[in-house]
Amino acid sequence: SVVGTAQIGVTGLAVMGRNLARNFARHGYTVAVHNRTYARTQSLVTEHGDEGTFVPSESMADFVASLARPRKVVVMVQAGPATDAVIDELVPLLEPGDIVVDAGNAHFPDTVRREQALRAHGLHFVGTGVSGGEEGALNGPSIMPGGTAESYASLGPILEAISAKVDGVPCCTHVGPDGAGHFVKMVHNGIEYADMQLIAEAYDLLRQGLGASAPEIGEVFAAWNTGDLESYLIEVTAEVLAHTDAATGRPFVDVVADAAEQKGTGRWTVQNALDLGVPITGIAEATFARALSGSAPQRAAARGVLPADTLAWNVPEPGAFIEDVRLALYASKLVAYSQGFDQIAAASAQYGWDIDRAAMARIWRGGCIIRAKFLDRITQAYERNPELPLLIADPYFTAAVSNGVAAWRRVVAAAAAHGVPTPAFSSSLAYYDGVRAERLPANLIQAQRDFFGAHTYRRVDRDGVFHTDWSGDR
Ligand code: ATR
Repeated sequence: SVVGTAQIGVTGLAVMGRNLARNFARHGYTVAVHNRTYARTQSLVTEHGDEGTFVPSESMADFVASLARPRKVVVMVQAGPATDAVIDELVPLLEPGDIVVDAGNAHFPDTVRREQALRAHGLHFVGTGVSGGEEGALNGPSIMPGGTAESYASLGPILEAISAKVDGVPCCTHVGPDGAGHFVKMVHNGIEYADMQLIAEAYDLLRQGLGASAPEIGEVFAAWNTGDLESYLIEVTAEVLAHTDAATGRPFVDVVADAAEQKGTGRWTVQNALDLGVPITGIAEATFARALSGSAPQRAAARGVLPADTLAWNVPEPGAFIEDVRLALYASKLVAYSQGFDQIAAASAQYGWDIDRAAMARIWRGGCIIRAKFLDRITQAYERNPELPLLIADPYFTAAVSNGVAAWRRVVAAAAAHGVPTPAFSSSLAYYDGVRAERLPANLIQAQRDFFGAHTYRRVDRDGVFHTDWSGDR
């Protein structure tokens, strides 16, 4: 078959694909480009042809023929049936050893399935997470590729070249086999849900507790962004809160409807955590909080009807309250990340992926939405102990949390007393107290299960499995 010179190809030239193709070209790669509708391909070359070397093709066959071997084709179309359609079109045109990269937001079981199917053709299939949105795709995303180590040997350097860099280290590494890359991207998004919800709860507490305006709270977030909480999401929050609505002159957030939407990665993360039995309460509460915000009939039925019976706010020392909220936010965030990394460890064991958590924290330090200084600390914790069973039990984080536990309790107690919903703050604290408990009330659950279902129990004083004959007690 015909062999061309392009080092990498991109098919699917909507916003993300177009920006990835430009990023490759700007890094000196010869980029084959293709799109179902040729006009998009033409407009890319017309508008950005001067940024590097593009080889446009109108047909998929010409596109494949323009690539050097082993061919590397990045598919950047809608997740789901469109991805399957493009893969089906590509496969007969490729030869053993070629690499198909799905850079879309696929659900990881689909990636596992596609990898198996392509392996049967002698092809490598690399499901890769790409985070950072349009801007990241163009200027350096965080990239999470799965697939074989063999495919990473030739593809990896190209992806690393276009990825974000932090201290000169690429935000891209081989995550693990088949679906590992898309899985890790999914958990990344779940953590993003939790982080956003925690920030929203902090904002709500400052708003209600202090009666502060959006721009005033924006200043608090801007100050927080110079400390432990320094992160893209905190920075964005400060900017959004400072923004004025052009149409009304009011603070922008005051004119935005309070019903959050979701595309589904949070839901996937929670569904998988239920399958694996990993308590990711922060992500779950964040996902459900979005669902509650969108529960219009229930909210209409409850608003002004359900009694509040709350204390009135009286915060004599606003500075101390703000600091309490900051500490509670940091501690809750730590719990949410800790839970997300537990989920990665559990999936890695369950699916045989051997994922290095230090490396995941390292490639999230730049390019992606959850990028934060704090991820350096997580990397170091997993470097100190790759088998670390609990992130918050790493000495650095234990010290960080112990500094804030009292504040955390005050904030959650105040939220309950004043009727401010803080599902993520509260559940994170409950998780913290649960995981550190000397003894949980699960003993009673086991006794109940044995009583009505003869499910047996273990004892604290003897090895073995026991069942009590409860008939005499009835
Ligand atoms: P965005 O939201 O970033 O604009 P998207 O809607 O997720 O993009 O994806 C659109 C891309 O998928 C386009 O490149 C589209 O091709 P067209 O420009 O021809 O519409 C591509 N796409 C969608 N379905 C496809 C299919 N069945 N086969 C091939 N390409 C497809």
